[in-house]
Amino acid sequence: MTELPAVSFASLQPEPKSPTAIYFVTEGEELPPPIKRLDKASAGAVSRAIEVAGFKPKRKNLLEILAPHGLKAARLLLVGIGDAKTLTHRDWMDLGGVVRGKLPKKTTEVDVVFAGVDHLPEEAPLGFAAGFGLRSYTFKKYKSKAAKSADGGEEEQDEGRAPPKLSIFSCWGDKLAAKLQHTEAALSGVYLARDLVNEPANILTPPEFTARLRALEALGLTVEVLDEPKLKSLGMNALLAVGQGSAQPTSVVVLKWNGAVGRSAGDGNIVFVGKGVCFDSGGISIKPSPGMEDMKGDMGGAAAVAGAMATLALRKAAVNAVGIVGLVENMPSGTATRPGDIVTSASGQTIEILNTDAEGRLVLADLLWYAQEHLEPKLLITLATLTGAILVALGKEYAGLFSNDDKLASEIAEAGAESGELAWRMPLSKKYNKMIDGKFADIKNIGARDAGSITAAQFVQRFVKNGTPWAHLDIAGTAMASPSTDINPSWGSGYGVRLLDRFSAKFHETPSAED
Ligand code: BES
Ligand code: MN
Ligand code: ZN
Repeated sequence: MTELPAVSFASLQPEPKSPTAIYFVTEGEELPPPIKRLDKASAGAVSRAIEVAGFKPKRKNLLEILAPHGLKAARLLLVGIGDAKTLTHRDWMDLGGVVRGKLPKKTTEVDVVFAGVDHLPEEAPLGFAAGFGLRSYTFKKYKSKAAKSADGGEEEQDEGRAPPKLSIFSCWGDKLAAKLQHTEAALSGVYLARDLVNEPANILTPPEFTARLRALEALGLTVEVLDEPKLKSLGMNALLAVGQGSAQPTSVVVLKWNGAVGRSAGDGNIVFVGKGVCFDSGGISIKPSPGMEDMKGDMGGAAAVAGAMATLALRKAAVNAVGIVGLVENMPSGTATRPGDIVTSASGQTIEILNTDAEGRLVLADLLWYAQEHLEPKLLITLATLTGAILVALGKEYAGLFSNDDKLASEIAEAGAESGELAWRMPLSKKYNKMIDGKFADIKNIGARDAGSITAAQFVQRFVKNGTPWAHLDIAGTAMASPSTDINPSWGSGYGVRLLDRFSAKFHETPSAED
């Protein structure tokens, strides 16, 4: 796992000492006093560089000044922030990522000076540190040494080389250190989720995934594993049907975090439910070869649930939360499910499996039954790389958000907007039911070509009891095969971890004693 960058906080001081120093410049204002001081100390080298480069401090514009005479810093980076008043937490994260991306590999220490910026919220240094950390992630464990140094892009961190130490100088001094714990917990959760999504399916089999989740006991989570015999005895046949063609055993893992002190019985848990298809070949309804390798990421929902639960435990969140994931491999073989097979799900509803590639909804159906029967949900959130159709609708920017509860949907959309893990509400309606009513059984696992993400969500909803608030995030476009962004250099983005963390922190936690 990539090491987190070490972050320390200190009060503002005349000139920090690291060889790399970062300063911010607001658009439309004259240079702030700290930079004027640097200019003076360098006999005008800084203002000359600004002039020669034609540097405009628009947001994310950078000016790198190397070896300025008379300064301690050998590399001075001026960072344009545009209009400081309008910067959000998310913008500060992007700036942290942009700066991280600009630093050469060999950088060991960085000083970041938050001085001379008006309207600077406390969130700014923390957002910057978060973005810096998110951009620092790498996944190079399968590159041999020689290949590593040959292909290493300048910005990428070598495995084994610690990321740069970040020293943040601001008017808050080390008062921010306590809040950094939350940021670091979220970073660790995202790193975990990204690692899981990036792992190839020959390594991250359902048993290996199960073992990695068991290891989260060390964080204080309770981990319970349901193996195949147990799943059979519970009647979770929809889930088992997905795995029956694979040589790998199917399992369900339940992660519990009891952090809400003095909750009264019956308050219930927030419950996250994740699709963990470790490889989705499509089964007998096999997928075409091109791009099939991407289906190692079809466990992105389970990875997000794991990362979020790890985050809650690491920051000792004042919430009672449960994560449940179904870990299974969808393969064709002589024992695989055939199109046309009918299974009885744990809920008792019978399902006609017309396409073995529509397997995620079968996994969620039985997980939802277990969650409602055994986990006392006060609300349920399913996360799944469920449909290619969500990519057609929303691309890679927004996840699809479906819900039977307007309040829950708006909480999730808000947590998404604030974390930058965006979610866009899509419709559910009884009107779609006729597309998935079964011919021989209660329900069939595919609709027609149209509205693919909606019929999938509508299928999943049939397994949610009336009155239980439920939301579903279709993350097929956002969790994997992700484009590089300022804060994400990774194929597996870790989408969902920060959204769920924010959702819990903002809407479902009892204030802790220290606050
Ligand atoms: N895992 C896929 C969905 C997917 C597609 C995830 C692209 C990530 C990227 C899912 O199991 C699937 O195969 N869905 C089918 C459903 C269809 C058969 C009704 C799809 O989207 O084509
Ligand atoms: Mn599939
Ligand atoms: Zn799938």
